[in-house]
Amino acid sequence: MSKEGRNEVHTTGEESEGGITSSYETGDGVELKVKYSFFGSIYDEDEKNAVLEAMEQDSLTMGLKVQIFQEDFAKFHDVKHAFAVSNCTTGMHLCTQLFDLKEGDEVIITPNTFIANSLVLLKEKVAPVYADIDPRTFNIDPAEIAKKVTSKTKAIYVVHYAGQMCDMDPIMEIARKHNIFVLEDCAHAHGATYKGKKAGSVGDAGVFSFHSLKNITTCGEGGMITTNNDEWVKPIEALRCMNLGQWDIGQTEFTFGRNSLKKVIDGKYSDYWVPSHFDVQDYKGHWGNNYRMNEIQAAVGIAQVKKIDMLTEKRRYNARYINDGIKDIDGVNGVYEDPNCGHVFHLYTLTLDPEVYDRDGFLRVLYREFGVQGILHYQPTYHFTGLQKLGITGDCPIAEKFFYKRELNLPMHPRLTKQELDDVVAGIKGTAEKLRK
Ligand SMILES: Cc1ncc(COP(=O)(O)O)c(C=O)c1O
Repeated sequence: MSKEGRNEVHTTGEESEGGITSSYETGDGVELKVKYSFFGSIYDEDEKNAVLEAMEQDSLTMGLKVQIFQEDFAKFHDVKHAFAVSNCTTGMHLCTQLFDLKEGDEVIITPNTFIANSLVLLKEKVAPVYADIDPRTFNIDPAEIAKKVTSKTKAIYVVHYAGQMCDMDPIMEIARKHNIFVLEDCAHAHGATYKGKKAGSVGDAGVFSFHSLKNITTCGEGGMITTNNDEWVKPIEALRCMNLGQWDIGQTEFTFGRNSLKKVIDGKYSDYWVPSHFDVQDYKGHWGNNYRMNEIQAAVGIAQVKKIDMLTEKRRYNARYINDGIKDIDGVNGVYEDPNCGHVFHLYTLTLDPEVYDRDGFLRVLYREFGVQGILHYQPTYHFTGLQKLGITGDCPIAEKFFYKRELNLPMHPRLTKQELDDVVAGIKGTAEKLRK
């Protein structure tokens, strides 16, 4: 944002600190009919009132609102525990520490995802090992995971791409056979299901994102860790908040997190202020973090959880409307819905047959001549310069040659109007007619 005009719309990444995380505005003068929106949810009076109410509180972080949000989120996703965090990346980093992953360990991961998944491994010096994707769902392929397991493999990090869950049964089977963890990245998958089970309830832990463009959002940033493992409640709470605990002065009961002021000596409460009201330790050699969520975000989250079903229905309607509108266009493929899954359409991914269309040309005409803004999700992670410098490679022909060369993502969110949906369909039809080889 320029210093002079604080209210100006962002133009390029150079001027905006948010860069690609806050918009795909290009400032090139193209008049858009349907832009790629960076607001993935719907807010109304519920969220506005929730913000105002939370602002009146004594503490603005990690209070009652966070607790209620966690409880409601856990209930909605059929899990025993949920822990609000500052975002999905920090939540996944915390889980990487929780699993005690370290240098020399390997994690099997999809190349078709945001950089966040690899970053949290690299931060702990863990090696990402890329397994190729399924050509219909674009999710990690369990058969490819099985080929990558070695004695160093400690976990599988799956991503429910676009809001459709991975084929979790064979993935869990591989994990149980080799005694390794499964982390579900549910950044796209609020309320998504696999054989009736909710995202975040199948693996050892799940992590959600509430970034602005996600299916629900807590004022632009936020995240949630889910798990059914009772033994992880204390370590997760501790790693989220500096790994603070009580001084162990002999006979005290060591308490973490929300009870950290409680100090019991010989069955009696003692002065909490000595020697200090908290002590700090590492967790298996990993240092704690400030990955907390504030009360205003949580208050909005409480209102948003109540809307997940309604928001999902709108996304499903919109995606199926586009699927239906483009079904007869030669060489253009809409979204495949796996009958085992309840897809929540965080993204709408169109794929083009390369013998019929040039994908980049298609995006260009769709954007410049029909005013519909599409983007690419995702460049295979191991292509990024930072990873290449480390010598990290991947061999995933489906992700590289089949998917990344043919895909494009269309605007998808619950506020799309009928006019916008019709503009998207007309744009695809018009572009296809113009470019068909
Ligand atoms: C698949 C995936 N994982 C993780 C993230 C990171 O989420 P956050 O921005 O909440 O850290 C994103 C964000 O776009 C994502 O798409």
